[in-house]
Amino acid sequence: MTTARHFIFSGLVVSITLAAAYVEELDERFNEMRKSEPWLVEFYAPWCEYCKTFELIWYDVAAELKSQGSHINVGKMDTTVYADAVTDFKIHGYPSIIFIKGEKYFHFNGPRTKDAIVEFASRVSGPFVRVLSSVRLFQHALSHHQLFFLYVGGRSPLKGQFYKVASEFVIHNYFFAAPPDVLPKAVALQDVPSVAVFKDGSYVVYDEVREGNLSSWVERERFPRYFLMDSFSLYQMGERTKLVAVAVVDEKNPSAESIRYKSLVEKVATEHGEQYSTKFQFGYVDGNDYINGVIMGDLPVPSIIVLNMSIDGYYLPGSTVKTIEELLEFLNSILTGRSELFGGNGFLQRIKRLYYRATSALKTSFASSPFGTCFLISLPLVVIGFVATGICTAERVDDEKADDGPHPVVTRRKRAAVKHSEAKKKD
Ligand SMILES: *[C@@H]1O[C@H](CO)[C@@H](O)[C@H](O)[C@H]1NC(C)=O
Ligand SMILES: *[C@@H]1O[C@H](CO)[C@@H](O)[C@H](O)[C@H]1NC(C)=O
Repeated sequence: MTTARHFIFSGLVVSITLAAAYVEELDERFNEMRKSEPWLVEFYAPWCEYCKTFELIWYDVAAELKSQGSHINVGKMDTTVYADAVTDFKIHGYPSIIFIKGEKYFHFNGPRTKDAIVEFASRVSGPFVRVLSSVRLFQHALSHHQLFFLYVGGRSPLKGQFYKVASEFVIHNYFFAAPPDVLPKAVALQDVPSVAVFKDGSYVVYDEVREGNLSSWVERERFPRYFLMDSFSLYQMGERTKLVAVAVVDEKNPSAESIRYKSLVEKVATEHGEQYSTKFQFGYVDGNDYINGVIMGDLPVPSIIVLNMSIDGYYLPGSTVKTIEELLEFLNSILTGRSELFGGNGFLQRIKRLYYRATSALKTSFASSPFGTCFLISLPLVVIGFVATGICTAERVDDEKADDGPHPVVTRRKRAAVKHSEAKKKD
């Protein structure tokens, strides 16, 4: 019904005007207004083309919140007019979506869809920890959230830590607290107080001695063991201490090979999770758009690849992975340092990446890519990147014969690496 309504209305000027009425154009008076009421604000710049595309989604967000009876105000602000906003809210690109409540603010990092933004706004606007006071409320949380953290027990130092961690991670996940008697019998949290994460149809209890502090544990556990990663979740992996092992597949036209790769990665995640999940995050990705941007090459689909997102480095198996043993062997070879690391974030790699992103951002869908953003800080660098990439690498991929072997990416990267080091020697 919502879709149908959306379909009929989108594109009609009249509906846009109506929806736009729910979005307030903010000015310098915002500093006063934010003191008393919660705001969801889109910060934009007039030169940002993506912001114009995004505007319709933003009107939808406002209309949806309105129809839900939400108390959240929706606004937009032109940062070229109110430049202080850029430093006040640590804005790095446009459009920036920020939930603001008094002195506190939360950046939205998910996919730029109406549903994701509305969900984010309702999550961060409520209490950071929601209390599940009855069996019914607990069951509701269980059936509505794929993943959430739960505190069980009364007052304790652990509770204090849990609330503190929740205030930091509420931008990503739900946090609940419950008395022990609302839990089903199947959930045995022996020691109260305790903290557990519910995910993958099961739960894991936090153990301070084994796992270190609560904050780093939540950081490690806040994703399902194995899941469909969009570009935004991949992007977030850069802040993490795990390598990312993914099957890159075509979900629309899955070949037998795609299905096999996915099930191999899922098997390792579920059956060998104990052993590998501290080091690896497992999942699958639909299409190679985003990953091509990381490796700056063309990854065949389907593939299995392991990424070190904090340095934009990656590993590829030496030959086609056919069995679970071969996949485990590949993972082991990475852990023991026997597998070669490609890519990385050396200076030339970074310049090249800016150039690659600047050119490919135009091709990829803006809603699905974190690089479909007008980068505020890196914009001048892109210009430098264009020049520098031309001079420094002058890589002629085109006139190289189609690479032999199954991994053209590797071969090309190796050549690039050689060229870079030669260039350095000459300096
Ligand atoms: C938790 O541990 C991590 C790494 O072990 C550390 O960086 C962080 O500062 C610790 N946080 C707290 C609140 O102690
Ligand atoms: C990623 O690479 C950096 C640099 O080599 C390394 O320090 C870091 O531990 C790697 N990350 C993971 C999760 O292995």
